[in-house]
Amino acid sequence: MAVLIRNGEIINADSRFHADILVEGEIISRIGKDIEAPAGATVIDAKGKYVFPGFIDPHVHIHLPFMGTLTKDTYETASIAALAGGTTTLIEMICPSRADDPWASYELWRSKAEGKSACDFTFHMGVTRFDGKTADQLKKIVSVGVASFKVFLAYKGAFGVTDEELYQTLKLGRQLGVITTAHCENPELVAVLQQELVASGKTGPEFHHESRPPLVEAEGVHHLMTFAEMTGAHVYVVHLSCEEALREATRARERGVKAWVETLIQYLVTDKTFAERPNFEGAKFVMSPPLRDKKNQPILWNGLQQGFIHTLATDHAPFDFKGQKEMGRSDFTKIPNGIPSLEDRVTLLYTHGVKTGKLDLQRFVEVASTGAARLFGLHPRKGTIGVGADADLVVWHPDAPGMISAKTHHMNIDYSAFEGWKTIGKPEVVTVRGEVAFQSGQFLGKVGRGKFLAREATHGE
Ligand code: URP
Ligand code: ZN
Ligand code: ZN
Repeated sequence: MAVLIRNGEIINADSRFHADILVEGEIISRIGKDIEAPAGATVIDAKGKYVFPGFIDPHVHIHLPFMGTLTKDTYETASIAALAGGTTTLIEMICPSRADDPWASYELWRSKAEGKSACDFTFHMGVTRFDGKTADQLKKIVSVGVASFKVFLAYKGAFGVTDEELYQTLKLGRQLGVITTAHCENPELVAVLQQELVASGKTGPEFHHESRPPLVEAEGVHHLMTFAEMTGAHVYVVHLSCEEALREATRARERGVKAWVETLIQYLVTDKTFAERPNFEGAKFVMSPPLRDKKNQPILWNGLQQGFIHTLATDHAPFDFKGQKEMGRSDFTKIPNGIPSLEDRVTLLYTHGVKTGKLDLQRFVEVASTGAARLFGLHPRKGTIGVGADADLVVWHPDAPGMISAKTHHMNIDYSAFEGWKTIGKPEVVTVRGEVAFQSGQFLGKVGRGKFLAREATHGE
């Protein structure tokens, strides 16, 4: 059935105009003035509203065995939460343990999503070991459309790779034309700082930041950039949190390293004092790299607006407060890391970025959708409103008030990091490939309709 969205203001990263959008089947078939509705079409009046391309979260964890526990969301709960917030495409990290087989891990992660998601999805392939068999397995995984890698410089003894493995992964990425995404923190420094803090009785969540200070992250970024420069690989720093780390990435880009930067909504709107809240409340705000001193926030906002930072993600890693975060009551190093935000990313970015004048509307679309689509081989199918693109559309009320609460959110998690926060602007209608999936706060989509998006390698010479 056709859908006609009338009278909206279309906001793309590179254009802005008033027009109607006709959707036939799964794609946008026409954009223009005064388009007549075909017989039987669903007509949506978007007068006074923005129409955005569906938003893309380029860094989420839905299935994640981590720190002795397992994330709470399933693809059903996560995709419905994503759609409630205007996100129509998820890029999940496949995170095998070092002992796991890469191809079997790809199949496992894919099985968690296939037939269970209400929105489209794809993956970055985590490389947590590199031995004699790895290259062939990774080539096979890239050939089925998982055309990006993920490495962890942190999490020594869990997901972390050695320098030799990092070198081999980047060399292979360069050869295959795929980008390697990386969690950048110096693992040795984290380990020694954690030991020192715990040994001196500093065991609460407020000490998590001290165990991973900005220089630990900056060293990780510098390390990655050195290896990227030596191999010619294209790299993407995930969840960059502070000025020191951004300086390293920017310096590398200035000398020609092919590097891109992601930050998270959490770093823009919350700071390290949240993790210092008494009575173990701070555990809700433990993630890595940690929430930083507030003075970093204007630098990150400026980075997004000026193009030093290219994408905005959530690193959604949903662990309950009860029973999961509580595992670290007597030792902050055992608090499962993550601040779930999948549902709230776009609304918070709009409220605290666009509405305060820190981010213009087109940069908002760039960092929350188009930038990730381009970097990860989804553009122009995703990330833009154009004839022939998938009809993933968000009709956005620019001034509607809202309030975030665990009582009303769709994520399968027992708390909200933003409990009681007021928001401005919200998605009124969200479509997934031409079908209305969310309208006026109601999920109208279909669990299982979300498709795996096979991607080409787009980082070749
Ligand atoms: O604290 C975080 N970031 N948790 C998720 C795992 C990761 O490092 O991406
Ligand atoms: Zn990470
Ligand atoms: Zn992550």
